[in-house]
Amino acid sequence: MIQTTNYHSSPPRSFLFQSLDAKDLEVIVMAMDEVRCSSAGERLIQQGDDGDSLYLIEEGVFECKIKKGDGEELVVKTCESGDAFGELALLYNCPRAASVDSATDSALLWKLDRETFNAIVKEAACKKRERYESFLKSVSILKDLGGYEISQLADALSLHEMEAGSNVITQGDAGDTFYIVEEGSLYAWKDGNAEQSLLEYGPEQFFGELALLRNEVRAATVTARSASKLLSVDRKTFVRLLGPLQELLEAHAKGNY
Ligand code: CMP
Repeated sequence: MIQTTNYHSSPPRSFLFQSLDAKDLEVIVMAMDEVRCSSAGERLIQQGDDGDSLYLIEEGVFECKIKKGDGEELVVKTCESGDAFGELALLYNCPRAASVDSATDSALLWKLDRETFNAIVKEAACKKRERYESFLKSVSILKDLGGYEISQLADALSLHEMEAGSNVITQGDAGDTFYIVEEGSLYAWKDGNAEQSLLEYGPEQFFGELALLRNEVRAATVTARSASKLLSVDRKTFVRLLGPLQELLEAHAKGNY
């Protein structure tokens, strides 16, 4: 059974709300309704329907399913705590692109209406996707990601502006971030030997994957040679969205380090 109440504690953060200020965030929190599911298999969204809300998961697991030609539904994505779904119909004014069912016996979600989403979130979220989607499609290591994963990655990116000479990561530190170079040039060095560049990085190249892939400390320091713009994702997003690229990333690591 799906139950909806208006209860205002704090919903989990979503990347879609990343660029909002505290005032706008408060409006979002006040507008959200709590939704509870009490069994697996409850359908929250039906593919092809008009969409009037976005959901943010606090607890529980949900499956997004798309109908194939023979009518069978195929699970295209599994969403968990902190993930949002139902954003496409709101962002692009289109029918629901997939159906979404609960996959656990108990789940807690937050539901945001289209009017509040349009007034506060839509413009910034669309701009961020527009700005980064085409850039991400030009990054060769990401070429096997689907269009939907590229959009999700665009939502999740954080921008870092580095001055020439500053260290982005330091050998020996614990590492929780993966970086893609948007602009500028950087180099990797290790063991106190800053004059000896081990690898040079420019636009569309990436670094910081090794510590995340192997659960090790940073194997080298990476320093900005010129003022640089970097796009980063955290460990959770790296595992969730770039997990399918693990073999490619390992092969890249073997060829380069
Ligand atoms: P929306 O189309 O509004 O409703 C169904 C939701 O399923 C959709 O937004 C996305 O949030 C989610 N979804 C997950 N994976 C996919 C996918 N591969 N294609 C389309 N929608 C997806």
